[in-house]
Amino acid sequence: MNTANALDLREKATAILRENDRGHYTVPTKGLYPFQWNWDSCLTALGLAQIDEARGWLEVETLFAHQWPDGMVPHIVFHVDDDGYFPGPDIWQTNRPTPTSGITQPAVAGFAVRRLYERAQDKSLAEQKAKALLPLIDRWHRWFFTNRDPHNEGLVAILHPWESGRDNAIDWDDALERVPTEGIQPYSRRDLLHADATHRPTQAQYDRYLWLLEHFRRLSWDNSKLHEASPFKVVDPGFNAVLLRSCQDLAVLAEALDEKEIARRNRDFAKRGLLAMEGLWSDEYGQYLCRDRVTGDLVESLSVAGILAAFASIPPSRAEELVHRIEQLSTRSHFLVASHDPADPRFDGKRYWRGPAWLIINYLIADGLTHANQIDMAARLQKTSLDLIEKSGFAEYYDPLSGEPLGGGSFTWTAAMVLQFLREEHPA
Ligand code: DGY
Repeated sequence: MNTANALDLREKATAILRENDRGHYTVPTKGLYPFQWNWDSCLTALGLAQIDEARGWLEVETLFAHQWPDGMVPHIVFHVDDDGYFPGPDIWQTNRPTPTSGITQPAVAGFAVRRLYERAQDKSLAEQKAKALLPLIDRWHRWFFTNRDPHNEGLVAILHPWESGRDNAIDWDDALERVPTEGIQPYSRRDLLHADATHRPTQAQYDRYLWLLEHFRRLSWDNSKLHEASPFKVVDPGFNAVLLRSCQDLAVLAEALDEKEIARRNRDFAKRGLLAMEGLWSDEYGQYLCRDRVTGDLVESLSVAGILAAFASIPPSRAEELVHRIEQLSTRSHFLVASHDPADPRFDGKRYWRGPAWLIINYLIADGLTHANQIDMAARLQKTSLDLIEKSGFAEYYDPLSGEPLGGGSFTWTAAMVLQFLREEHPA
């Protein structure tokens, strides 16, 4: 990309971050998502820090100020009242000083905080902030392995599709069949006021999302009970790769800050988890798959979660095979990386996580591939991502066949990822 175009994109991305900035947290987009979301914020912090380092740190600090006493970091913090979103605090009923949801989201904070620290210009601010965040992120990681891996398998389960961040992925279809819908309170969705219904999850899926929420609420959000009690328990390779990479990054950061115990613990989590990831590998499909922890079976669903696994330190031969998978996908869709393989009849290029491409996923995969020395594919992902933005603007997600922008507009983490990609391409 030439310098003038890069400058133009950088200005537009910066304007979106400013527009969605609420002072101490950032909304993902106006209307559709009017609060603070967990992994959105951690990735957004990277973009914010390119504009103002202190503001980048504050984004993560605000999120962790709402960590639960048991160590969980919730997926939404409801800083304000807003009827434009459902389900709000009155439905979650988590009884927190500032209302939050009762489930979590991909644990990208360890990665984000190491990156903020290492790229900081203001080293003394970075040291002070990282030192304070380190034990909080470590507690969250311990929470995961205690509550979501109670049988010490080395990998954690998600108990709700919203936890994965990939709400309506095809990966969950079979497991959601086991979730009943009887008895849920009548409700009215608000997402459809802001986004096209054909780009969003279906009503049948929402009913199941709500059933799970009400089920966990009846158990008073007691995390020591939820894993056992949930009919939906899936081990997602992408979710686990994010957590394991964060454990590794936290260990490196802890070492640098002389926190030996945190470093040792997180290195162990990562080591055990990476060994267990091999159990999710499919020779037949050349990528990782989800495992349904209720049935014990691998889920035959070729989603991008099995490629996002490249974000963790998987064996080099696996990274190479994932590059082949991405090459295969590139013969089926013009824009990388489709969130589901277009060769699958269940693929839907416009519906949220059942096909569309997402910039954050491209960024995380590209980063993992860079570490695995798969430089050409990492550069290709960077280029296709910036091409997509030039063509279609800063959307929530994109049809990987046509590049059509979908979901919410002026999207915060898309803008943050553009700033990050431009940083690699045109270091300031
Ligand atoms: C939503 O409301 O669509 C979110 O993805 C849930 O976190």
